[in-house]
Amino acid sequence: MTRWTDATGGGGGQDYAARFDALAATGADVHGEAALCAALVPVGSRILDAGCGTGRVAIRLAELGYDCTGTDLDPSMLAVARERAPQLTWVESDLSTLDLLAGGDPAYDLVVLAGNVVPLAAPGTEQAVVARMAAHLRPGGLLVAGFGLDRAHLPDAAGRVALADYDAWCSAAGLQPLRRLATWDGEPYDGGGYAVSIHTRPGSADGLRPA
Ligand SMILES: C[S@@+](CC[C@H](N)C(=O)[O-])C[C@H]1O[C@@H](n2cnc3c(N)ncnc32)[C@H](O)[C@@H]1O
Repeated sequence: MTRWTDATGGGGGQDYAARFDALAATGADVHGEAALCAALVPVGSRILDAGCGTGRVAIRLAELGYDCTGTDLDPSMLAVARERAPQLTWVESDLSTLDLLAGGDPAYDLVVLAGNVVPLAAPGTEQAVVARMAAHLRPGGLLVAGFGLDRAHLPDAAGRVALADYDAWCSAAGLQPLRRLATWDGEPYDGGGYAVSIHTRPGSADGLRPA
């Protein structure tokens, strides 16, 4: 059981969606994650929204013209995603054992872990999650992950993941660091309590646009 399902009882989908709907209704921008991904890879790229929840990020990216798949372990979150975007592919799976390429599907140009997915994974599985994400990237593909680093930037249910550990897990999975930001808006990282990390799988790297 992930920290997320432990905290929500596996029935948090409607509440989570309602929270973001209410935020969007105030005029707040709830699409920062999708905007950053869209700035990094060209329209039409294959994007995996890992820990997609209600599909917030994948649905927005699909609207922008990206080829999106979402995957999550929580059926109540996926139920919202399926209801809101039945035309997209939603896969119920554990990220720490995910294998979407077994059937011969091409690897992804970008994998996004938005919304504290890594600190909300089951304790002790975080490195496996990173390794499986790396395995889904094509050479030159990007892993983009945003999560809080201290209690002020994390939900109560989340564990704490140090950036040094996250970088070490990426390195062990064959990824190289490209850029670290403080926000999804692209502000440079300044040592604060939230970070967006961009790593790449070495190869014929051509995915990263200047941002
Ligand atoms: C706070 S929600 C974020 C949802 C979405 N990414 C967003 O930004 O709106 C965290 C999500 O991570 C998912 N998650 C955590 N660990 C997971 C795992 N090992 N496998 C699949 N999903 C996982 C949870 O089920 C939950 O839907």
